[in-house]
Amino acid sequence: MATRRFVSKLSKMEMYDKRTKGFVVFVSLLFIVFGAVIFVFFSGWVKAFIQSEIVLRNGSHTFDWWRRPPVTPMMSIYVYNVTNADEFLNDGAKPKLQEVGPFVYREKWEKVNLRPHKNGTITFQQRKMYYFDAAASAGSEDDLVIVPNIPMLSATSQSKHAARFLRLAMASIMDILKIKPFVEVSIGQLLWGYEDPLLKLAKDVVPKEQKLPYEEFGLLYGKNGTSKDVVTIFTGRDDVTRYGLINRYNGNSQMKHWNTDECNSLEASDGSLFPPGLTKNSTVYVYEKDLCRRLPLVFQEEIDNAGCRGIKGYRFTPPINVFADIDSNPDNICFCPSGPPCAPNGLFNVSLCQYDSPIMISFPHFYLADPSFREAVEGISPPEKEKHQLYIDIQPEMGAALSARARVQINLAVSQVVDIKQVATFPDIIFPIMWFEEGIDSLPNEVLDLLYLATEVPPLVRVVLSYGLFALGVLLLLISLGCLVRSAGRQETLSLEASNHFAKPKPAANGNRKPMPQLPHSGGKPAQNGTTNHVKSGKDTMDALNPAFVEAPETGVAG
Ligand SMILES: *[C@@H]1O[C@H](CO)[C@@H](O)[C@H](O)[C@H]1NC(C)=O
Ligand SMILES: *[C@@H]1O[C@H](CO)[C@@H](O)[C@H](O)[C@H]1NC(C)=O
Ligand SMILES: *[C@@H]1O[C@H](CO)[C@@H](O)[C@H](O)[C@H]1NC(C)=O
Ligand SMILES: *[C@@H]1O[C@H](CO)[C@@H](O)[C@H](O)[C@H]1NC(C)=O
Ligand SMILES: *[C@@H]1O[C@H](CO)[C@@H](O)[C@H](O)[C@H]1NC(C)=O
Ligand SMILES: *[C@@H]1O[C@H](CO)[C@@H](O)[C@H](O)[C@H]1NC(C)=O
Repeated sequence: MATRRFVSKLSKMEMYDKRTKGFVVFVSLLFIVFGAVIFVFFSGWVKAFIQSEIVLRNGSHTFDWWRRPPVTPMMSIYVYNVTNADEFLNDGAKPKLQEVGPFVYREKWEKVNLRPHKNGTITFQQRKMYYFDAAASAGSEDDLVIVPNIPMLSATSQSKHAARFLRLAMASIMDILKIKPFVEVSIGQLLWGYEDPLLKLAKDVVPKEQKLPYEEFGLLYGKNGTSKDVVTIFTGRDDVTRYGLINRYNGNSQMKHWNTDECNSLEASDGSLFPPGLTKNSTVYVYEKDLCRRLPLVFQEEIDNAGCRGIKGYRFTPPINVFADIDSNPDNICFCPSGPPCAPNGLFNVSLCQYDSPIMISFPHFYLADPSFREAVEGISPPEKEKHQLYIDIQPEMGAALSARARVQINLAVSQVVDIKQVATFPDIIFPIMWFEEGIDSLPNEVLDLLYLATEVPPLVRVVLSYGLFALGVLLLLISLGCLVRSAGRQETLSLEASNHFAKPKPAANGNRKPMPQLPHSGGKPAQNGTTNHVKSGKDTMDALNPAFVEAPETGVAG
């Protein structure tokens, strides 16, 4: 009797112990489940969070940074100074060019006249201010260079198909105004404008509708200040896949110059924001008005350590056939509305966006263009990818530009016009004028910190949390199992004497547990009642004790 009571008491303690252990098992399983849930879903949550955070809404960080970028973009300008203008015109010598520069301008960007719309778009105008940085430049803005007279050569090249008497009239006007095919101007004048007699004349005599908008000529004339172009972009509120893309440019949702909708499309970034979630297969588009088209950019390589913060980025760059002739890239036929003949390999005709001036865009040093253009002049070194390629590094999850180099060369496509004596000896030639590089080097620390937090930390947190919880769960499980097995071992010896006070496991309710041992039916009640059950074999008893097989009464979860 005494033995019986002792055993009964022991059995109660054992049950209590078992419940605790069952609870531990339950908690450890919870850990494992949470670990798995975090492993599977965490990235999705972070993605959703990022996508809601980057929306351009009044008051958000992204909005402030977009509106007043906390960066100092730099514009470096290299001008091709013509050193043998007379020999070129009189003796038919190859033009000798001397690349001078860089002339560096620090830029300050701001978006002004902001007008948010109800449909998830915002309208603005871009203000860019340029400040000459003498310390970073190789010369001063007052340095004199000799360059082709772009207004004159534009006029003469355009007159090629006009009536002959018009060309003769042009020649005598140019005689009177003493206009020459080359001009000597300072860097400042070439960029920011000088009074051009031809433009002044045009302004006075040409009918109002055809008037050029200004009487000064400069390659960056009117660019210092607020742009007249009114741009509407998507804020990402309604459709994050169009985040940062242009909706309307000066009220138009399409360009009008080109032959197909694809080529006329304005669905492109202005270069500051890109849709989030870019992959290596993505093509991003950048629209720049002076480029007269949107520029496709494709993945080139991974950037490991942007801004020395361990932020990963993707480098996007134009495909090598972007400006290819229509033989190598038939898609470019849409950019040739009045052709063929179309633009030669590596050049892009922007004449339609430049008041019909015969301006051709290429990459600096004719990178990716036919080498014959570079060899037609002297003094341009062979192109180098690192120095002359255009690229943007983008943080793919957030679509934020990390750094960028927009590099473009401006060339004048001169046509020989023998009736105009001033230019009669100026042959058909693609004459390089200058190239520039507009770049953002690195973002300020506060932006980098946030980018790091948003993009590099979550994967780390995910791994640490999920693996941590998982490991903790497994560890707890093993420990509790180990304890139970050991105590069950002890219990086995006891049960040999006291035999029959043990629970009959309930049938499995949970599909993913180990198979239940088939106990001989005893019709017994739970051991808590202290009633006597039939004697089981020692092995069965042990199995019944093993928490892996016993349904934990509190939770219903078993191993
Ligand atoms: C943003 O909100 C502030 C105050 O709520 C307001 O003064 C400002 O005009 C708003 N800006 C824009 C662009 O809507
Ligand atoms: C450009 O070339 C001309 C003629 O050779 C020369 O006088 C002038 O100094 C050059 N300009 C620069 C900035 O080197
Ligand atoms: C959004 O609203 C603006 C102003 O009403 C309009 O110009 C623009 O076309 C609209 N955009 C879309 C996508 O509906
Ligand atoms: C641009 O405009 C600002 C302000 O009007 C002026 O301070 C700056 O010198 C200008 N830059 C150039 C290159 O003319
Ligand atoms: C990228 O494209 C290739 C081939 O078209 C495809 O196999 C791959 O799965 C794509 N990768 C992504 C991330 O979409
Ligand atoms: C450039 O485009 C204009 C307008 O389409 C065309 O008149 C001109 O001939 C083109 N120039 C070249 C060199 O193809």
